[in-house]
Amino acid sequence: MPQPLRLGIAGLGTVGTGVLKIVRRHESTLTQRAGRPVSVSAVSARSRDKDRGVPLEAFAWEDDAVALAKRDDVDVFVELIGGDTGPALEATEDALALGKDVVTANKAMLAVHGQRLAELADANGATIRFEAAVAGGIPIIKALTESLAGNEFTRVMGVMNGTCNYILTRMENAGLPYDDVFAEADALGYLEADPTLDVGGIDAGHKLALLSAIAFGTQVDFDGIDIEGIENVTIEDIEQAADMGFRVKLLGVTQMTGRGLEQRMSPCLVPANSPLGQLENAMNMVVVEGDSSGQIVLRGAGAGEGPTASAVMGDVMDLARGIRTPTFGQPAASLRKATAARASAPAPFYLRMQLEDKPGALAKVAATLADAGVSIDRMRQYRHEEPSAPVLIVTHRTTRAAIDDAIAAMGQPA
Ligand code: HSE
Repeated sequence: MPQPLRLGIAGLGTVGTGVLKIVRRHESTLTQRAGRPVSVSAVSARSRDKDRGVPLEAFAWEDDAVALAKRDDVDVFVELIGGDTGPALEATEDALALGKDVVTANKAMLAVHGQRLAELADANGATIRFEAAVAGGIPIIKALTESLAGNEFTRVMGVMNGTCNYILTRMENAGLPYDDVFAEADALGYLEADPTLDVGGIDAGHKLALLSAIAFGTQVDFDGIDIEGIENVTIEDIEQAADMGFRVKLLGVTQMTGRGLEQRMSPCLVPANSPLGQLENAMNMVVVEGDSSGQIVLRGAGAGEGPTASAVMGDVMDLARGIRTPTFGQPAASLRKATAARASAPAPFYLRMQLEDKPGALAKVAATLADAGVSIDRMRQYRHEEPSAPVLIVTHRTTRAAIDDAIAAMGQPA
C-alpha cells in the first residue's frame, strides 16, 4: 500500500470540521482517486472540549498550531485558523521552512504576506494551496493556474462576498433599507466578527488581490486596490437602478491596462439579465476573460462548511496525487511588482441626484456634464416630491476624473 498523505489540521471551526467529515465519509473514494490514503494525524484548536459533532479521539491533539505544523507525522499543514498575523502566520512559516506544503483558506494572510510566503515556499521546495480562500467552493484558483494556464487574461471580475450579495439582493427583493437588512444578516450569522471586512469590501478585496497575482503574474498588491464597500448603497439606488434594467452588485474587477494594474472593488450597476445581475442571495460568481478561452463564468457558494471544505479537499487531493503547482501559478521570483493604475479605465457611471424642481435645473446638469466631457446615455426623472425631483443618469463611458469634475461643478449630488 502506498504511503498515506498525512494532514495536520489547525482550526476546527466550520471548515476544519467539514474537512474531517469529508476525510471520514469518503475515505475509500479519496484513496482510489489519489492512489494513496489521505489521513489526519493531528489537530489543534482553541478549545479541546467543545462538541463539534465529529469524533477526535483518533487524532493526536496539539494546543499549539506551531507544534502541530512541526510534527514529524504531518506532511501537509492545513491552516484553518484565520487572521493575517499570530498563530496562523507563524505556523504557516514554520511548516514552509520545514519544506511542508500548506493548504489554507486564509485570504487575509495571503493578501498581506503572500509574496513573502510564496518565496519561502519556493526556497524550501514547498507550495501553498488556497482554493478555499477565494469564492468558497468555486474552483477558480485551479481554473486560472491549470485549466486556463494557456491564456493571456484580459480581465477577471466577480462577486466574491456572499454577505454583501445577500444584503443587496434582499434589499431589492423586500424593498428594505440597508440598516434593516444588515441587522438581518447579523442575526443569520452571515457577518464576519468585524463586519467591515464584509460590507467595507475588504474581504472581497483580499480575494481579488490573490486572483490578480495569478492572472497577471504580479506580486500580490492588496494596497493597490481601489476599495469602496456597500455601506452607502441606499434602497433608492437599488430601486431606481432596477427601474432602468440594472442591479447593484459589489463587483471586483482586475485588469492589466497600459497604465498599470487596475484593481477595483466597488458597488457597480450590472445589467439585470446578465449572469452577474441574476446572482441571488449569498452566492458568488467569478467571470474570467481569456484571449483563447473567451468568457468563462463560474458560480457557486462562496462560504459555508461543505463548499469551503470541498475546496480544501481539492487542494489536498492534488498534493496527494503529487500535483504541486507553484503558489501563484509560477515561481514567486518571476512575479513582477505590480504598478497600480493611477486612474481607472473609462466606464459608464451612474449618478443619482435630487434636483430643485424648477425650469432649467435639468438643463444645467446636462450642460455641466457636457462641459466636463461626459455624455449621457440614459436619464430618468422620478415622482416629483415638492420642492425636489429625484433624477437618475447613466453616462456613456467616461473617466472618474471627468465625473468628479462635473460633480464639483454642480455641487453635492444627493
Ligand atoms: N464573509 C465571506 C462572505 C466569507 O460573506 O462571502 C468568507 O470570505
